[in-house]
Amino acid sequence: MVHNAVKEHARTPFREEVWQQLSEGMRFVPGDFDDDQAFEQLRKAVDELDASRGTSGNYAFYLSVPPRFFPKVVQQLKRHGLADAPEGSWRRAVIEKPFGHDLKSAQELNAIVHDVFDPEQVFRIDHYLGKETVQNILALRFANQLFEPIWNRSFVDHVQITMAEDIGIGGRAGYYDGIGAARDVIQNHLLQLLALTAMEEPAAFDAGSLLTEKLKVFRAVRLPEDLGRHTVRGQYAGAWQGGTKVCGYLEEEGITPSSTTDTYAAIKLRVDNRRWAGVPFYLRTGKRLGRRVTEIAVVFQRAPHSPFDSTATEELGQNAVVIRVQPDEGMTVRFGSKVPGTSMELRDVTMDFAYGESFTESSPEAYERLILDVLLGDANLFPRHQEVEESWKILDPIEEYWASNGRPARYPAGSWGPAEADEMLARDGRSWRRP
Ligand code: BG6
Repeated sequence: MVHNAVKEHARTPFREEVWQQLSEGMRFVPGDFDDDQAFEQLRKAVDELDASRGTSGNYAFYLSVPPRFFPKVVQQLKRHGLADAPEGSWRRAVIEKPFGHDLKSAQELNAIVHDVFDPEQVFRIDHYLGKETVQNILALRFANQLFEPIWNRSFVDHVQITMAEDIGIGGRAGYYDGIGAARDVIQNHLLQLLALTAMEEPAAFDAGSLLTEKLKVFRAVRLPEDLGRHTVRGQYAGAWQGGTKVCGYLEEEGITPSSTTDTYAAIKLRVDNRRWAGVPFYLRTGKRLGRRVTEIAVVFQRAPHSPFDSTATEELGQNAVVIRVQPDEGMTVRFGSKVPGTSMELRDVTMDFAYGESFTESSPEAYERLILDVLLGDANLFPRHQEVEESWKILDPIEEYWASNGRPARYPAGSWGPAEADEMLARDGRSWRRP
């Protein structure tokens, strides 16, 4: 299976002799999680690899298992002497979301994992942080002089962070139902994007300094008092999408017809600090939206004064810096320009940076980068347990409010979400971007 998968997905031409070398280091140890024999076999297998391949007792355990099995698996690793590294070697544990479903469960999960592994040994994967464009947010902000001076409340009107998907839930009903869009991606991916967009410059580019700055952002986040007016959740309804008739969420296989799970979520937040006071951050995500796109749009205030006739500027929007996380990875700067001709008429134009045009190097897949970082012990791109817990503190009150207030609004598959989300922004005198 691995052979075929590598052959199918390798980005460089598949070479049988390279595969041969790689596969010689692979062992498959089957068994149940509470099967002591299996863990003994695992220990023997890695011991033998140490001897035959010179792996020096360095092991990364990738727990690709549902969270309810974490306690069992980490305890088994400990019991069979796999969690403790001999002097000079390392042991690391990789875990994937969901990191709990609220603050309490996240704390319990963290306690279980930290009972066996030190916080520095635990690598939580948020694959968004492995994306080239996401890492570029820091480069853009802190390696240049152009953007940072205007990256604050004196110039920014608001920020929109969008993660839209055109797909539905696919075969993931078991995971998704009861979790929903906000827990699935706002708690992790979107709040991480918010942190990178809003944070102060870290003292150094290392895991500790990044954590310090991200935590400051999360702790400064304030929710609107009236969650009914400033958050929206939705559920997709069956419709024609791109020439295909797709079913609604409630008709998906494995979903109970009375489910109130959100497949769309939009929320407004504030970051209450000197840099961002008064600047709203709007976060939205959804399945079965118009198209797949993730972007961060920093929208600037209008010029304080215009010497031109108001008719000249009728078509002029607000300046914006848009970081296109995916697809078409890159960045757009939008500003006004004179329309060629004999009259003074102004219109928006864009300046574009596209990875594909500026670089010949290709970006590694997010997981490719992150797994390599685990092996190298570089924790910069991995959320620590404090971040996970702070993110749940932001989301929990919203989930609680939703749980006791009605049902999600409906939106047709292929649209840009429920009308309520447009109304939410319209009340603030703004509108969502149509990426
Ligand atoms: C995952 C979510 O974390 O991210 C999925 O669980 C979602 O629901 C996926 O589809 C999207 O990832 P990407 O990289 O395609 O934006």
